[in-house]
Amino acid sequence: MAGESVADKSVENRILTTEYIQDDAHIENSLRPKTFETYIGQKKVKETIKVFIEAAKMRKEQLDHVLLYGPPGLGKTTLATIIAHEMNVNVKITSGPAIEKPGEMAAILNNLNPGDILFIDEIHRLNRHVEEVLYPAMEDFAIDILIGKGSSARSIRLDLPKFTLIGATTRLGLLSSPLRDRFGVIHRLEFYKESELIEILNRSAQVLDVKMDKDGASEMARRSRGTPWLANRFLNRVRDFAQVKYAGDITKEVAEYALNTLEVDPLGLDKIDRKMILTMIEKYNGGPVGLDTLAASIGEESETIEDVYEPYLMQLGMINRTPRGRVATDFCYKHFGIQRNSDGHNK
Ligand SMILES: Nc1ncnc2c1ncn2[C@@H]1O[C@H](COP(=O)(O)OP(=O)(O)O)[C@@H](O)[C@H]1O
Ligand SMILES: [Mg+2]
Repeated sequence: MAGESVADKSVENRILTTEYIQDDAHIENSLRPKTFETYIGQKKVKETIKVFIEAAKMRKEQLDHVLLYGPPGLGKTTLATIIAHEMNVNVKITSGPAIEKPGEMAAILNNLNPGDILFIDEIHRLNRHVEEVLYPAMEDFAIDILIGKGSSARSIRLDLPKFTLIGATTRLGLLSSPLRDRFGVIHRLEFYKESELIEILNRSAQVLDVKMDKDGASEMARRSRGTPWLANRFLNRVRDFAQVKYAGDITKEVAEYALNTLEVDPLGLDKIDRKMILTMIEKYNGGPVGLDTLAASIGEESETIEDVYEPYLMQLGMINRTPRGRVATDFCYKHFGIQRNSDGHNK
């Protein structure tokens, strides 16, 4: 099947990207938690938002605007849909790059029902003119519309239904401050603990009706970079290996074999991580090297490195960010079995 080879290639080359592979879209959907009970981890965010939801319900008001940020695959979209579910309202989902003109944003806002949630993914990618429509909308539940042309042009204010905006971004730093300031609730999603990923994997295995033992689950969790999306993705792939090459159940042996074949190492690093780190070490003596230079050297987008690869490498303590660029740490040299010379050159 054509779709299969695309999927394989994409997983092989870019195991970390969250670009949807169509064949997996329905699985993705079936694994997405729909309630707070099945949304594992992120305890602090969850508890806080639950309180706000309850308070809003008691006052019979809409929820305050919520901004969620953090690396891809940590559950931002999922949390937005759960909030809508708990508030008993509809959610309309769009994304920053999808809205090109102010008029489109105005139309979306105008079509909401009272209490509805508007979820804008990649909200840092809204263009400025579209973003400006949001300011009065978020603050006063109104939009200003320009009528007529030239000297006879005038602006009229149109009231909107009271809604809740939930924004998601991988890059809080790229959000303008007027936009950021209009969110009442701002939360960062954290990488998940191994035990939480195991819990997620256990639930997903149940949904998919796959048998998986404890060690198999641990092995996958360890290599999932603290990211539920990746854990589920691995479960799907490992399941294929289990069916074709083994007796069908997921064990440590199957998980190791499958993930090694997909070139995911025991810490969860993939081909691109390795290429990036080896380039830092071999070409730039471990750094400091600027992000753009590094990106160009390995043929990746700076943005992808910053959003997808770097956060986990920093969490692991493999690389550090300094004012002069990225540097490889001693732990990094050790993991890759490379000795750092005292004069800064590698052996
Ligand atoms: N807290 C969680 N508990 C269980 N599964 C989760 C959780 N967060 C995310 N997932 C899984 O990971 C997938 C990706 O999550 P998503 O919300 O799309 O991430 P993001 O929007 O941050 O990129 C979801 O479809 C779901 O299967
Ligand atoms: Mg998302």
